[in-house]
Amino acid sequence: MSCPPKSDDLVFFVNGRKVIERNVDPEVTLLNFLRKIVRLTGTKYACGRGGCGACTVMVSKHDPVSAKIRHFSITACLVPICSLYGAAVTTVEGIGSINTRLHPVQERIARSHGTQCGFCTPGMVMSMYTLLRNHLQPSEEQLMEALGGNLCRCTGYRPILESGRTFCVESTDCQKKRTGKCCLDLEGNDSSSLSRESDICTDLFVEEEFQPLDPTQELIFPPELLRMAKNPEKQTLTFHGERVTWISPGTLKDLLELKAKHPEAPLILGNTSLGPAMKSQGRVHPILLSPARISELSMVFKASDGLTIGAGCSLAQVKDILAEQVSELPEEKTQTYRALLKHLKSLAGQQIRNMASLGGHVISRHCYSDLNPILVVGNATLNLISEEGTRQIPLNDHFLAGLASADLKPEEILESVYIPHSQKWEFVSAFRQAQCQQNALADVSAGMRVILEEATDTIKELSLSYGGVGESTIGAHKSCQQLIGRPWNEPMLEEACRLLLEEVSLPGWAPGGRVEFKRTLVVSFFFKFYLEVLQELKKLDSHHYPEISDRFLSALEDFPVTGPRGVQRYQNVDSHQSLQDPVGRPIMHLSGLKHATGEAIFCDDIPMVDRELFMVLVTSTKAHAKIISIDLSEALELPGVVDVITAEDIPGTNGAEDDKLLAVDEVLCVGQIICAVVAETDVQAKRAIEKIKITYKDLEPIIFTINDAIKHNSFLCPEKKLEQGNIEEAFEKVDQIVEGEVHVGGQEHFYMETQRVIVIPKAEDKELDIYVSTQDPAHVQKTVSSTLNIPINRITCHVKRVGGGFGGKVGRPAVFGAIAAVGAIKTGRPIRLVLDREDDMLITGGRHPLFGKYKVGFMNNGRIKALDIECFINGGCTLDDSEQVTEFLILKLENAYKIRNLRFRGRACMTNLPSNTAFRGFGFPQGTLITESCITAVAAKCGLLPEEVREKNMYKTIDKTIYKQAFNPETLIRCWNECLDKSSFHSRRIQVEEFNKKNYWKKKGIAIIPMKFSVGFAATSYHQAAALVHIYTDGSVLVTHGGNELGQGIHTKMLQVASRELKLPMSYMHICETSTATVPNTIATAASIGSDVNGKAVQNACQILLKRLEPIIKKNPGGTWEDWIEAAFEQRISLSATGYFRGYKANMDWEKGEGDPFPYYVHGAACSEVEIDCLTGAHKKIRTDIIMDACCSLNPAIDIGQVEGSFIQGMGLYTTEELKYSPEGVLYSRGPDEYKIPTITDVPEEFNVSLLPSSQTPLTIYSSKGLGESGMFLGSSVFFAITDAVAAACKERDIVEDFIVKSPATPEQVRMACADRFTEMIPRDDPKTFKPWSIPIA
Ligand SMILES: Cc1cc2nc3c(=O)[nH]c(=O)nc-3n(C[C@H](O)[C@H](O)[C@H](O)COP(=O)(O)OP(=O)(O)OC[C@H]3O[C@@H](n4cnc5c(N)ncnc54)[C@H](O)[C@@H]3O)c2cc1C
Ligand code: FES
Ligand code: FES
Repeated sequence: MSCPPKSDDLVFFVNGRKVIERNVDPEVTLLNFLRKIVRLTGTKYACGRGGCGACTVMVSKHDPVSAKIRHFSITACLVPICSLYGAAVTTVEGIGSINTRLHPVQERIARSHGTQCGFCTPGMVMSMYTLLRNHLQPSEEQLMEALGGNLCRCTGYRPILESGRTFCVESTDCQKKRTGKCCLDLEGNDSSSLSRESDICTDLFVEEEFQPLDPTQELIFPPELLRMAKNPEKQTLTFHGERVTWISPGTLKDLLELKAKHPEAPLILGNTSLGPAMKSQGRVHPILLSPARISELSMVFKASDGLTIGAGCSLAQVKDILAEQVSELPEEKTQTYRALLKHLKSLAGQQIRNMASLGGHVISRHCYSDLNPILVVGNATLNLISEEGTRQIPLNDHFLAGLASADLKPEEILESVYIPHSQKWEFVSAFRQAQCQQNALADVSAGMRVILEEATDTIKELSLSYGGVGESTIGAHKSCQQLIGRPWNEPMLEEACRLLLEEVSLPGWAPGGRVEFKRTLVVSFFFKFYLEVLQELKKLDSHHYPEISDRFLSALEDFPVTGPRGVQRYQNVDSHQSLQDPVGRPIMHLSGLKHATGEAIFCDDIPMVDRELFMVLVTSTKAHAKIISIDLSEALELPGVVDVITAEDIPGTNGAEDDKLLAVDEVLCVGQIICAVVAETDVQAKRAIEKIKITYKDLEPIIFTINDAIKHNSFLCPEKKLEQGNIEEAFEKVDQIVEGEVHVGGQEHFYMETQRVIVIPKAEDKELDIYVSTQDPAHVQKTVSSTLNIPINRITCHVKRVGGGFGGKVGRPAVFGAIAAVGAIKTGRPIRLVLDREDDMLITGGRHPLFGKYKVGFMNNGRIKALDIECFINGGCTLDDSEQVTEFLILKLENAYKIRNLRFRGRACMTNLPSNTAFRGFGFPQGTLITESCITAVAAKCGLLPEEVREKNMYKTIDKTIYKQAFNPETLIRCWNECLDKSSFHSRRIQVEEFNKKNYWKKKGIAIIPMKFSVGFAATSYHQAAALVHIYTDGSVLVTHGGNELGQGIHTKMLQVASRELKLPMSYMHICETSTATVPNTIATAASIGSDVNGKAVQNACQILLKRLEPIIKKNPGGTWEDWIEAAFEQRISLSATGYFRGYKANMDWEKGEGDPFPYYVHGAACSEVEIDCLTGAHKKIRTDIIMDACCSLNPAIDIGQVEGSFIQGMGLYTTEELKYSPEGVLYSRGPDEYKIPTITDVPEEFNVSLLPSSQTPLTIYSSKGLGESGMFLGSSVFFAITDAVAAACKERDIVEDFIVKSPATPEQVRMACADRFTEMIPRDDPKTFKPWSIPIA
């Protein structure tokens, strides 16, 4: 291969240090550069698409136009390193460190408990830090905006926001006033028994202890860069890579010359469109032209008739420019600017808005574009320039559709965009609806403009433009033309809708799906526009124009983005408890500060090992097929490729017979692993997988849906059944019977740290060291052992910390560990395997989708007498945990209700989809939705409120569960009553009803849900744990136990336990890692019992040690700890002890249908209130109150964090997280763009969590409870509040109650359920006449 020509030097700064890169490869991103070249691993990879914010860093540049330094956050995964010429990059390591000085942002996020697994934390820190570099005292709105592009899967965002709020203008010294009011003033507090108790705390941290923000301590912009910026080099810079050359001209003239010379070369600005496209299509542009140094493209001209904005301006700059115009000009002139501003607030996250350019946005012509429809109706003009000169073209549909006659010529570039002022009697509006409010691509976006004849309501000009409903932005020209001259009134509205639906037609199979919803939005948006204009007319001339009825006015308001507020309450420790004893106190996560500085090491942060190779997996593209041949030859010839690992290379067992590690002969799903490429670098390995040719022969049957599985009798295991009473007889005696269906979609774990493993073969005795991100290292160790056919004692698995697991890292890491181990043994070299987000989502499976049928018999007073539920879960192609999930589902279905006659049946379907697996709550969140839906159905039939039926049927006294385990509902009832009380439920129910009477297009809903959650595994052998505690001769203590740190704070809790037992401050103690060499044969850290069982083991070890020390202490009571340890050593007393907990007994006899499967229950209740927009399906979460019975919490900050985090994750399951599969079984949703986990803007506006005081459980360590999973189901209170609001809309519209429940309650579901004149207008397709874009698998 010929050597690339010599490149210019790329000069930029990282954390104040000059970087000169010679021979830089333009394909290298800043993220790769930071992590792999300069080894700054604080910046994380989590999606690679700009959608999660984990890789956020700050870039500072001198802005030639304003002559100021601009600091802005960006996502390093999308930034080509070459674009950084002359820039200063600041990473999380550059702002503070544990060893030197912490930055206040780092300190505060950690001390406010804003970190759990810590994987998102460096990104959060950098978003906040950048905000503070620009605004020393930001507003809360700015804080929300800054964090809108950062995802966190653990915390539920509240504590992160709280830490940021300490910098805000509104922040007060009073902790309690973080809520906006003193917590004692909050509505409903006075009446509650909780707040009346004097030992209730609401402070989880002490703001006064935070160090102040001192801007003089910040890194300055490097003077050398400032000099460079002030005397810019005019010469063209060229960086040659292996496949791509980056050319950055210094003048516009040179740029135009280059464009003429390389007309096919794209201009690269933010790379937010080009980058993802190149990645997903595997496309390479040999030449990239970077206009970053051309100041002409960043110019802004304000003229008397409009505004010209340089194409190189970022969308964030465009937002500021427009805001300035809006503040300077009269309202009538800024209609288009206001509409653009509205969408610029919700378009992507702040980082993308900082990077993406106006030119890139316009030229990318994405069909979902938020801005193009507005620019089209606003009559924007594109100013083009080439060597030939300048010319203008209209930004219209023809341009956006890419028609050659309306497009740029290849040698032209876009210099700027001209957006004219609007005028009097002109009205412009913008609309969009996405899966969630912020950081989500719109399903449909629209720009609408009308000019009326002066002082009349006659349409003079009308333009309507839609995004998301075709391959490009679409204009409704014909409809608009036909409406000219019509008065702005109801008949016009009717006619417009008819015309629009004809013109903006969308076929049933349209890509992106949600076809009927999109059709409905087309007309619903127009209706909103119609009302908006009427309202504006009314403002202009109140006599002349008709009044909009108050009931309809609610159609107009958009839901504002507001930061959540709330109070967290917990019981203070006993006043007699020693100050040194940390149990029960809100101690910060042990790694909190390290998370915040980026110094916490995750698996892929471990430096490269000598001779290390990278592994990439090759997966099946067929759902069910015979493998005819695998041709590896081309891949093996590529540079850097060392080997391809196939099933034949496995020395031992290739997984189980029906669940192979690497496919042999046959594949059972798209995404099944067939082989793995091993190469010197990740880039080489990724290039090689494209060259592997696999031929298949399709096999029958191919089953994806639960329905098809039932038809084909395709199940993974036998039916699980529990029965109580006499169901048939009971059905005979009831007043009414209702039958219904519940469909619950699956859920992706979306742990921020994807699956990762490093396998290092050692020189001797076939030993292997494995560093792996897992919840179950012993399982990885065992699987590697059987795969390699070597004894378990040669393999050591190490887990330092895991960047989120949620059940997804129980079983799967063993598969990746074993395949990587085969590669390591075959090549004799260390192997690193780091899954891309796309592969992780494709391969690993998630929560089981569920389909349930119920029949419920009840009396007219709402008392349920008989309940028969049959449910099916979609298990995917192998058994995995599906049998256990089915069992748990059935065992937990009754939730909090005592119904005398019950029959629960469940089966796991075998389908040709990736195998589904354990997920927080393990079947409970899906199954119990059926039970709660029955309650809602019964309430509807009886004309009662759901909460009345819930209360009526709840356990009231000590009783037996369906599996005949004794159950005492006392704390359950306390939680329920406390929640009713704390949330002022009954008065708010009345207010909700009042609101609904007054508003037709917006409806509120409120719901309260009780929860009885059983903790632990249903088998005794799972309830055991061990710990190893060493005391060293200096008195320091090393604690090791069998639990893994997943972010749930288990290590922190374990040291709290050790500290109490040894009566020694936590500062003496350390936990290094979880390792199979120190504590063997561990149980997966799952099922909420990690801290329980390991805590008991740690306690045991400490007690053994203390017992040994007792004689010494007795002899020298005034001595210090160090004295005693020294004496113990002298006296040959062992200072190391193994603790063991022979855990709870648990059993379940499925034959008899009885047992004691669970050691204890966690009780809780949640009340949520929402408001829905019946026209768009959007909702806003007004308030949530959670009461959780944590008994004597080991650490209230951690436990409240678990409750909040799991609640928000549950809320995601039930509202926004939707997996989409093609009819061929290919998962479409493989990244944060398509799969929407909650963002910071999704948290309820008021979010209160209280741990129930004064409850006890004798079984567990210090009477604490495991809260890892239970909060998940409480997220369903949001779902039922939405259902409640939808029911109110349906009632008003006389729509008969539908007993088919579908989760998640996406905007699509909500909009289509609120049927009205617009849903009636849309054309409906016969599903038999086309192949849909996606299929429902539940
Ligand atoms: C995570 C994420 C979320 C997003 N969310 C949204 C959203 O909610 N709504 C929405 O509307 N969009 C969204 N986008 C899309 C985003 O708005 C566009 O990707 C962005 O505006 C493109 O700008 P850029 O500067 O990055 O373009 P680049 O990727 O740098 O370039 C894109 C194309 O434009 C051409 N080009 C750029 N400038 C010029 C010029 N001056 N003259 C000629 N050609 C030029 C290039 O040749 C290239 O072909 C999102 C993108 C990401 C990554
Ligand atoms: S890794 Fe860069 S945004 Fe997700
Ligand atoms: S703490 Fe945010 S993702 Fe784990």
